[in-house]
Amino acid sequence: MTIKTVLVTGGAGYIGSHTAKALADAGLRPVVYDDFSNGHRGAVRWGSMVNGDVRDQTRLTEVMAKFEIDAVIHFAGLIEVGRSVTAPEMFWDINLNGVAAVLGAMRETGVARMVFSSTAAVYGQPAGDGQDRLSEEATKAPLNPYGDSKLAAERLIAAHTRAYGLEGVVLRYFNAAGADPSGYLGEAHACESHLIPLAIEAALGLGPALTVHGSDYPTPDGACLRDYVHVCDLARAHVLALTTPLGPTRFDAFNLGSGVGHSVLEVIAAVDKATRRTTPFATGPRREGDPAMLVADPSRARAVLGWRTERSSLNDIVADAVAWRKAPRFGFHPIVEAVA
Ligand SMILES: NC(=O)c1ccc[n+]([C@@H]2O[C@H](COP(=O)([O-])OP(=O)(O)OC[C@H]3O[C@@H](n4cnc5c(N)ncnc54)[C@H](O)[C@@H]3O)[C@@H](O)[C@H]2O)c1
Repeated sequence: MTIKTVLVTGGAGYIGSHTAKALADAGLRPVVYDDFSNGHRGAVRWGSMVNGDVRDQTRLTEVMAKFEIDAVIHFAGLIEVGRSVTAPEMFWDINLNGVAAVLGAMRETGVARMVFSSTAAVYGQPAGDGQDRLSEEATKAPLNPYGDSKLAAERLIAAHTRAYGLEGVVLRYFNAAGADPSGYLGEAHACESHLIPLAIEAALGLGPALTVHGSDYPTPDGACLRDYVHVCDLARAHVLALTTPLGPTRFDAFNLGSGVGHSVLEVIAAVDKATRRTTPFATGPRREGDPAMLVADPSRARAVLGWRTERSSLNDIVADAVAWRKAPRFGFHPIVEAVA
C-alpha cells in the first residue's frame, strides 16, 4: 500500500515534531494530533494540526476518516519516569488507554499500520553482569510504571495484529537527544529530566548544578553508561518503519540506539567543550534502579529497516542541543492547517 498521509499523535512534542519534519522531507503529509499538554504549537510546522486527546476514540476516528489517514505514528504519552512512580494511574491511563483508543479508531477506519514509540525502559535491569548491549530478545522486566505501561501497550498492539490483522512496528528508543540543526526544533520538556539538556542548563548558568548519581559502577570511569541517539536519526527510523515489510505475525520490534555507551562524565566533558564552559556538578550516591550500562544492539534495525545513524556522535548531539538551547526558535510554518 502506498502511504501518503500519516497521523502523528504527540507530534507537537520533542520526537514527534522532528518526525513530522522527516515525513515532510520524505514527501509525506503529517497530520499532528496533540492535546498540547506537553507539546508546543510552534513545533508543528509541517502538514495539519488537530487538537485532541489521544484517549478520545470518537475524535480519532473522525480525524482518521477526514484526513484519509494511511498509517499512524503514535508518540502521545507521558514520559517522566519519576512522575510515573508517584502518579502511576495517569501513566496507565494515557499510555495504555491512549494506545487502545488509537487502535480502536484504526479498526473503525481501516488504517493498517501503527508505528509505536517504546523505550529501553521495558528491559529494566539488564540480566547477567549488565555489560552486554541489549538486543530485542533481552528479558523485559520494567522497573517503574512508565516502563510497565509501555510494555503493556506493546503487548496490546501485538494482540491487535493477531486478532484484527493490524500491523504493528514497535521502536524502542534509548536516550533521544540533540535537536534539528535548522534551529527550528529542539527539546523543550516543561519538566526536564534528561541528562543532556540539564547539563547544558547547568553549564550555561540557566539551571542548577548537576548531580552525578554514583561513581562506583563497574564502568571505565565509575559513572553510568547510556546510549544517546540523535533525534533526527530517530525521526528517519519512523519513516522507514512505515513501509518496512513485516513477516506473517505482522508485528516487529526494533531497538534504536547508536550502539555506543557514553558515561555521564563523558557527556559533561562534551557539554564543556560545546559550551566552552565548565559544567558545575557534584557526585552523589547511586540512584535506586539505575543500571550501570544501557546500550542498544541496533543491528536488527540496521538489517531490517536499513537504518543508519548519521548524527549520533556525542559531539554532534551535544553541539546541536547547545545551539538549540542558546536560541530556541519555535514558530509557525505557513502551510500548517489548524483544525479545531
Ligand atoms: N525522549 C526520550 O528520550 C524517549 C525515550 C524513549 C521513549 N520515548 C517515548 O517517545 C514518545 C515521545 O517522547 P517525547 O520526548 O517527544 O515526549 P514529549 O512530552 O515531548 O511529547 C509527547 C507529546 O504527547 C502529547 N500528549 C500527552 N498526553 C496526551 C494526550 N492525552 N492526548 C494527546 N496528546 C498528548 C504531549 O502534548 C506532547 O506533545 C513518548 O511516548 C515517550 O514515551 C521518549
